Amino acid sequence: MTAATAEPQDWALQAQGLRYAYAGSEPVFQDVSLSVRKREIVCLLGGSGCGKSSLLRVLAGLQPPSAGNIEFLGKAMLEPDPRSALVFQQASLLPWLNVTGNAGFGLDFKHQPRLTREAHAARVAQAIDAVGLKGREKLYPSALSGGMAQRVALARALAREPELLFADEPFSALDAITRAEMQALLVEVVHRWHTAVLLVTHDIDEAILVADRIVLMGGKPGNIVREWTVDIAQPRIGHNGDVIALKLDILDALHALQKTTNND
Ligand SMILES: Nc1ncnc2c1ncn2[C@@H]1O[C@H](COP(=O)(O)OP(=O)(O)OP(=O)(O)O)[C@@H](O)[C@H]1O
Ligand SMILES: [Mg+2]
Repeated sequence: MTAATAEPQDWALQAQGLRYAYAGSEPVFQDVSLSVRKREIVCLLGGSGCGKSSLLRVLAGLQPPSAGNIEFLGKAMLEPDPRSALVFQQASLLPWLNVTGNAGFGLDFKHQPRLTREAHAARVAQAIDAVGLKGREKLYPSALSGGMAQRVALARALAREPELLFADEPFSALDAITRAEMQALLVEVVHRWHTAVLLVTHDIDEAILVADRIVLMGGKPGNIVREWTVDIAQPRIGHNGDVIALKLDILDALHALQKTTNND
């Protein structure tokens, strides 16, 4: 299904004409339109400082846009919605809570849907299982590796059973092997849980390995400059020819973008 043929109920997130400027500064981005379909993994790719994190925070409802509008599941997104969840580069676990405590943290906050104690425990246990930490529930953050801590952060997000997961470079602090494991885990888990993802990354390989669609951000002020639908079967390792062709195409686009930005 192409973006043009998607019905309104197919969208998790739809944003049009977004602009954002920090107080007293030039706009970081403007005229940005970006949508994510339900169950779709979209990677927002771009060089350092092009405004990816700022855009993600605006789309997630953490800061209001200077112009434009955002709809989440068909309704205006004016603040973070409990049917969405966030994962950042740092796992930000609470040191006095164990894996279960951290994975369940926030699930009983006021704006979250009410859950019975049993439903709360079941959801947390299921999320911990999904990220491969079953049997490690009693460990505290000081006993967790970086990869395990990021698994807990992912479990905390999944426990909310979100329709859309916003992730800002969630694996960039991890070593290459752990990172590859986490990328595969993310794809597997969100497909199984039917969760859409908007993942910010500056890693082309990561985008190609996980995305259904790659959106390239660049320019000053930032904008969406290209988009690729990634039509390569998962898991993508083993489809090397298609992966390399797409990587070269993205690198080409990045070089063209760099040239125009430097000439401005
Ligand atoms: N709180 C802030 N106040 C003022 N300017 C900011 C703030 N946060 C970011 N910026 C500026 O906005 C621009 C975009 O930053 P942003 O963090 O969104 O980029 P990014 O693409 O996520 O970069 P990176 O890949 O390094 O994470 C940069 O010029 C940055 O200096
Ligand atoms: Mg960033």
